[in-house]
Order: sequence, then C-alpha cells, then structure tokens
Amino acid sequence: MRRSLALFLAVSLLAACTATGAPVRSTTTVASTTTDPAAPSAPPPADPDVDDVKDPVFDGLGDPRIDVSHYDVVVRADPGQPQIAGTATLTLAARTAKPLASFTLDLRGPVVSAAKVDGKAATVAAGDPGEITLTPSRPLEPGVVTKVVLTYAGKPSKAKFPIGGVAEGWQADDRGGWFTMSEPGGTQSWVPVNDHPSDKATWTITLDTPSHVVGVSNGRLVSRGRAGQRRRWVWETDQPMASYLVLVLVGNYDLVQRQGPADAKVVFAFPPEVSAADRKAFNELDGIVRFYSKTFGPYADDDLGAVVAPTSLGLALETQTRPLFGLDALGEPQVWALAHELAHQWFGNAVSPASWADVWLNESFATYADWLYREHTGEASIGDIAESETVESERAFAVLDPQAAREFDAAIYEGGARALQALRVTVGDTNFFKILRRWFAENTGTSVTTEDFIALAEQVSGQDLRPFVDDWLRSADQPDLPR
Ligand code: ARG
Ligand code: ZN
Repeated sequence: MRRSLALFLAVSLLAACTATGAPVRSTTTVASTTTDPAAPSAPPPADPDVDDVKDPVFDGLGDPRIDVSHYDVVVRADPGQPQIAGTATLTLAARTAKPLASFTLDLRGPVVSAAKVDGKAATVAAGDPGEITLTPSRPLEPGVVTKVVLTYAGKPSKAKFPIGGVAEGWQADDRGGWFTMSEPGGTQSWVPVNDHPSDKATWTITLDTPSHVVGVSNGRLVSRGRAGQRRRWVWETDQPMASYLVLVLVGNYDLVQRQGPADAKVVFAFPPEVSAADRKAFNELDGIVRFYSKTFGPYADDDLGAVVAPTSLGLALETQTRPLFGLDALGEPQVWALAHELAHQWFGNAVSPASWADVWLNESFATYADWLYREHTGEASIGDIAESETVESERAFAVLDPQAAREFDAAIYEGGARALQALRVTVGDTNFFKILRRWFAENTGTSVTTEDFIALAEQVSGQDLRPFVDDWLRSADQPDLPR
C-alpha cells in the first residue's frame, strides 16, 4: 500500500485548539456563477465598519471593504540577512456603497515608512497585531480604481501554523536562504496584502538579490536583469491568485526550464544537491497535467513547474503554477505528493475557496483527483482506493467542521474525498464528471462556496442533495461507501 499523502504530511500531530463554534456556512460574498458563466452575480457592498473578512476558521485576515486586482512588489532580499526592504504597489477599489475613509492591510513584521494613494501621502497606523490601517487624504470612491504605494522594511515575522508546528511565512531554509510557506496567512509576513482567499489578484514579484543568488516565484520569469552586484528577478502571474499561494525562494538554485504540456512553460528550481534521479521524477508532471486536463478541463495557466526548498518541510504546498516541496518529499512519496499538489492547480488555485470553511473544496477535491491519478496509473480502482483510505483522525470530524478545516484534518482530505466518491455513486459517472468540469470551467479565477458547489451538483444531476450533504459533509460519522 502506498503511503497516503496525509501520512506524508504528518498532520496527525494536532494542536489543542478550542472549537470556534462558528457556523459552518460561509458568509463571504463573492461573484459566483449560476447558469450563465458570463454573468456572475454582483456581490452586495461590504459593511463599512467591518475590517476583517468574516471567516469561521481563520479570523483577522483581509479587509472585505477592498478588492485588490493587482500587486506589483519589489523586494530586496539577501541570504543570511533577516531584514528585507520592499515597495508594494496595489491596484485596488473600495467595495463599500459609500466612500471609504480608511481600510486595512495585513502586514506582520516589516514596518511601512511611506504610503501614497493616487500619488498623495496617506497616513499609516498600526492597527490590530499584524494589520496596518491606511487613511488616504480623501476617502476612496466605491469601485474607482486606486493605486496604493507602500514603502516598507524590516524583519518578516513568521507564525506557527496550527498543525504540527509548521512555520508559516517568510523563513530561513537550511542553507542560509529564504523561502515562504504561506497557507493560510504567511504572505503578510513580507508584503502588505489583503490576505484572504476571497480576494484574488494578479501579481508581479521582483526579487532584488545579490547577483550570484537566484530568486524564484510564481508564474513567468520575464526578466533577470543584472545591475552592478545585484540582480532583479521579475516573475509575473497573470491568472488571479489567492494570497496564500504566493511563493518566494531566495538562495542557491538550479533553474531547469523547458517546454511542458498544454503549451505551458515549465520551470523547476532545485537546490544543487538534489540528485538527477529526484529531478527526473518531477518529469511525471507532464503526464499528471495531461491526465487532469483531460479529466477536469484544460490547465488554466501558461506556466508550470515545481520547486524544492533546501529544508525539511513536513508537507508540500500547492503554490500557484509551481508547487513547493521540501527535501523530505523527495524519493518515494514525491510522485504522489506531486499528483496532489498539481490537482490543486484546478481545485484551490484556479477555483479558490471564498472562506477557509470551504477548504474541503481544495483538499477533498485534490485528494480525490490524486486518487483518480493513482487509478489511472493502474494502482487500483477508485472504489477500492476510496474503500481502503481510512480516515486517520484522532477525533471524528465532519468535512464541514471549522475545527477540522483549521487543522487540515484527514477528515477533510480522505473523508471529503470519500464524500466525493459517494457523490459520484449518487449522481452517476456522467453527471459527476460534468459537475467537476463545469465547476472548474465556470469558476476559474474566482472564489466560491460549498453552497455554490452543491447548487451546481443539484442543477446538473436534477437531484436533491441535502441528504448527501447531511450524511457525508455535516456528519462526523460517515456512512459506508455505496458501491
Ligand atoms: N495545502 C497543503 C496540501 O496540499 C497542505 C498544507 C497544510 N498545512 C498548512 N500549513 N497550511 O495539502
Ligand atoms: Zn492539498
């Protein structure tokens, strides 16, 4: 039996967090498609007094009153030097009905020294921990595109992720370089950001490094110009990206570039010590992406790859276009972890959760997709895989339990994937794959909710899926799988 990804992730070491008791239903309003994919319903205006996204799983993130469409970030970073210095230009608009006098951005560690909104000085105040409050000289007019420029410097402050002692944010690797692991709230450790997946944006990330050092990020490497003793690595992501999927590596890397499947350009970044055999194993990427493209719809981006940080991570992360692995992922678990993280490019990255309460839309779907890939490679039938993947949880959690979501519990990975297998048996193969394909095709680039998924599944199947939701998603005690 192959080692399951959940084992590889070693997420059974659970932190003792108290239950939030918050409702499971997501309250975030974002554009979601109904029957006409071209006509997303307009979100209602945000409450002018609420400065954090209301999220039953992770609170204190983001500001629902603004919508950032693009980040252009230049960051100066040096191996061995914990201080960074950056300039972030945010293109954003107020989502409130009335003019917005001030708003917040998440930032944990570095300090802003200057802020401008549409060229005019704005005041910046430290707000709640990990947050800054910006007050422009004039309130933002609703819906009007505004440029916010922030100059900042300091030491990124990493936080402990609630599971397994994994650190989140900008952090040192084992060779003196830097890397980020940012799900759910690590990006704010090095750049001012609306750090919640309900607000996706495109990104241009420029890493200003010593000239002998390599800077890696998501998307396309558009230039690597040298200026004196330094080099500027400019990476562009032109598909909307949730902030937890942003990737930065600064250190000693071999960049391996080649043409990939689906016309995508592939870039791998390997620490020099990674063996030829381990590098070669990443070439399974092409077959995996072709399989998912055929099964769920064509890959949504122009760039692909994978990166290995020279450290032991205990997990992998589906950073957009280029998932992140540690040295501990190399060897036997590598291909299964790769299949899982690449599945997220469809489920989680192209189609993102509107709230962390919807994280099963990421993890259960990616787990189900990696099971499909395992079936495709001839390991076993999906029914047998679903049957044999026991949920290794210390406590019984429902798939839609906020505490399970907080802990990225196996109840979500394997339990939610088993729920999808149950849905498949309930609606039939044709409807099931139609649902997954439409889910991806109609929601790419947006952030969506569990209700959106159920509504689509009911629409495609013509069935009332409330019993499915109650038995498989809301109950901590799942039934036996139908065959
Ligand atoms: N999203 C990752 C995956 O592919 C898991 C990360 C869980 N840990 C974390 N710190 N967010 O399964
Ligand atoms: Zn995952």
